[in-house]
This record gives sequence, structure tokens and C-alpha cells, in this order.
Amino acid sequence: MRSEFKNEVFVNFQEKSNNEAYDAALKKAEAELGKAYPVVIGGEKIMTDRKIASINPANKKQIIGSVSQADIPLAEKAIQTAAATFETWKRTDPNERARYLFRAAAILRRRRHEFSALMTLEAGKTRVEADVETAEAIDFLEFYGREMQRLSLPQPLTVSEEEENELYYLPLGVGVVIPPWNFPLAIMAGMTTAALVAGNTVVLKPASTTPVIAAKFVALLEEVGLPPGVVNYLPGPGGEVGDYLVDHPLTRFISFTGSRDVGLRINERAAKTQPGQKWIKRVVAEMGGKDAIIVDKEADLELAADAITASAFGFSGQKCSACSRVIVHEDVYEIVLDKVVERASKLVMANPAEASANLGPVIDEKAYAKIQEYIEIGKQEGRLVLGGGTGSPDGFFIEPTIFADVDPEARISQEEIFGPVVAFTKAKSFDEALEFANNTVYGLTGAVISRNGAHLEKARREFFVGNLYFNRKCTGALVGTHPFGGFNMSGTDSKAGGRDYLLLFTQAKLVSDRF
Ligand code: SER
Repeated sequence: MRSEFKNEVFVNFQEKSNNEAYDAALKKAEAELGKAYPVVIGGEKIMTDRKIASINPANKKQIIGSVSQADIPLAEKAIQTAAATFETWKRTDPNERARYLFRAAAILRRRRHEFSALMTLEAGKTRVEADVETAEAIDFLEFYGREMQRLSLPQPLTVSEEEENELYYLPLGVGVVIPPWNFPLAIMAGMTTAALVAGNTVVLKPASTTPVIAAKFVALLEEVGLPPGVVNYLPGPGGEVGDYLVDHPLTRFISFTGSRDVGLRINERAAKTQPGQKWIKRVVAEMGGKDAIIVDKEADLELAADAITASAFGFSGQKCSACSRVIVHEDVYEIVLDKVVERASKLVMANPAEASANLGPVIDEKAYAKIQEYIEIGKQEGRLVLGGGTGSPDGFFIEPTIFADVDPEARISQEEIFGPVVAFTKAKSFDEALEFANNTVYGLTGAVISRNGAHLEKARREFFVGNLYFNRKCTGALVGTHPFGGFNMSGTDSKAGGRDYLLLFTQAKLVSDRF
């Protein structure tokens, strides 16, 4: 029996030895850059001519690796292989399935800096952000392994005198897993292993900006002995390979994390029944956010400023949980604004490989251009009080940017920017602040900084988000501790790292036996 699940402890980078170990891991990772990676189907490694080049967003000239792109025939082969493998994998003992996850967790723990360092290079994560992510990946493996063990035990039912009743959680079939680039290890590994530990087989289409870290994780699954064909690695463009996988009649479910537009497109396509399709496809989608932190007039304003700065600018605001709106009671508005400007202006924007970096670049050219467009829009809609500019032209650096006096209906208050840009809005009362906070189509995370218990109770009832935090930041959900996922246009209300997550990849069968 495994010990009870516990969250992995983060590495303390105040310790010199940990920084040195990380520097060494970075050097080693850099020495291995530039390799070509194959498509992997049923354990077969297939190099293709068309490649996706993954580049370092902090240093555009540095190629992390080039990944073979799949075409439609390979996508077909991947689905067929996953469907054939499902016939044996679904019958594999759930404890055996769980043990592959535990083994992978043990290796990740031993090679922790190696995985984190690759994320620093491929995704532009500072060492702290990368380490927290590797810890989260380990947590997902440990948590979902135990969850499958729990679900494979006899499930509680009302006892009948005349019958013996049992309920089994069966897997669904072939799952298409489309993870995001912003948590290229943790969320990718969590989505993939939740599906497979429940007995499904997977076609994994990695994010095109971070495919190398996904290839490394797939290699780790091979290393722990996961049977070939359970996870098939299939990089390719969304519009071509992604659509084909989603539309395929043998696809049973799609697990997606990414933008609202892509999530809605997948949901629509998946809803169309294809010739020969025997089921209604299930879509599990985690989409965007327009997350707000409310600061009440009775509040610890130092804590508020710390929470806002961390939530808005950690990983350059590229988390779906990131704070992009700050709604402050008018009595303390200027004070909070000043304190956040003061803190944010001290953040060190640099190549995230450097130990001193607090924030690095944004992910790619497209994001860089889009965020700058929003900064221009922000200049029309509010008062620019910090940032607005770019950094070293070696990479996609955008300064921490703060707009004040923004209307709650403004575009920068409503549209997801996914960058280091935050809008401050003044509220006349706590009730108005809550009204502004709820005034979006999203409902992912939110925080309230307040010492007023009645206000916190009101927010508990009325702040409509999946993850609501009091007197702390709104990012950094921990597996098992803060099951993560939001409402409305933030997705399908799923909770990654929660006790009901694996159920999304199963169907329950009841057997009633009268002797
Ligand atoms: N789970 C992450 C967080 O809470 C976001 O995906 O910050």
C-alpha cells in the first residue's frame, strides 16, 4: 500500500548548492540541444521530413530541438494503434497501471533539475517556476496513481439482502490529449496520465511551442516500461492533425487545455457524430480566465500588494490562473496601486536561466505581438503607470505592465491577454467590487484580500469562480489541496488534481447478481 499522498516540497533556491546544481543541469541541457525527435506510435519511432523547430523564447537563435510533424496517415495510424492497444490495456490491473505512474514519479524526483532546466530553456520559466512545475508533475503522478487504486476498490452501494451488487469504473477508450504550452510538463503529464491510469489509451498532441519537454516525458514513460501504444506521441498543427484526431469516429474523448477559441472549436467538432461512431464523445476542456483580485478597504495592504504582484507577473502572466484585473476599494486604491507599482518595478526581467531573473520572456512571436497590441489598447482605455515596453531583442521580453483607472467593461478588463499586463479598477464598495469581479464570461480563479469576515462570507457565496482564494495569491494551486478548474467559459467545470477528476475518463458499470 502506498503512503498517503503529500505535495512535493519545492527546492529552496536561497541555498547556494541548489542554485549550483541547477546551473549544472542547465549546462547539461544546453549541451543536448538541437536533437531531432520522432513521432512515436506503438513504440515505433518515426522521423518525418516536416519538422517543428522549438526555440528558446529568451534567445530566439537557440534551437531546443526539432520535432517530427505527423501528417494525416500518421494520425490515422496513431488512432488505430491506440484503439488496438485499448483492448489489452483496459484489462490491465489498475494497480499495475498505477505503478507505472509511481515509477515515473520516482525518476522525475531523481532527475528533477534535468526536467526543470529543459523547461527554463524551452518555455522561458525561471528556476523557481520550473521547479514548482516539476513538483506539480510528480504530484499528479502520485495523486492519480492513488486515485485509480481507490476507484478500483469495491465502491460503496446500498446493501441489498437478496443480491450482490458491484460497481466498476471502466475506461472509455481512445483519448486525444491536447495540452497547453504554459505548463508543458505538469499539465501535459497530468492530462496524459489521468487518462491512461484509468485504462484509456492516448494520442498525445503536444503544444507546438513546447514539444521537446513532452517528448522527454514520453521517453520517461517508455523507460518505466509502459506498454507501447498506450501513449502515442503525435506532434502536428492543430488545424490539420488536431482536427483529424478530434473528428475521428474511434476517438472516445478529448482532453484539452488551452484557449477558449480552440476549446469551443473542439467542443463543436466533437459534438458532430461521424459515420460509424458508436458513442457521444466526451470533451474535458480547461480554457481561459480573466482572474480578479479584490482588495477590500479593511485589508492587509502589504499582503495585497505581494499577492497581486506574484499572481500578475509570475511566469509573465502566462497562467490561466494569473491575476489580470485588480479591483480595489476606493479608500485604499491609490495606496495599493503604489505598492504594486513599487514591487513590480523591482522585478528583474532577464533570461530565466539567470538565477536573479524574476520573470523571463513570453512564449513566442505571436504572443509577443498580441500582448503589445493589448498594451496599445490599454493606453486608450486606462492610465499606463508601469511598463508598456519590451526588453532585450534576443527574446520575447515584455515588461511588467500596469494600467490604472480601467473601466470594468474595457477590452483589457474583458479579454484574456495572457501576458504581464494587469488592469486596476476602482470600486465604491465591496458589493460593487464583487459585481465587477463577476462581470466576465470566465470563472476560473479569484482572490479576496480582506479582514472583514462578513465580506469574505459574501464572496464565498457569490464570487463565481472555480478556485477562490482568501488573503493569498490566485495562482499556484496544489494537486489534491486545491483541485483546479473553473466555470463558464473557463471550461467544462473539471477539477484537475481533485478526487472527481479520474471519473471524467471512466464510465461506471453496475453488476447486480442474484444467486
Ligand atoms: N494550476 C495553475 C495555477 O494554479 C494554473 O494552471 O496557477
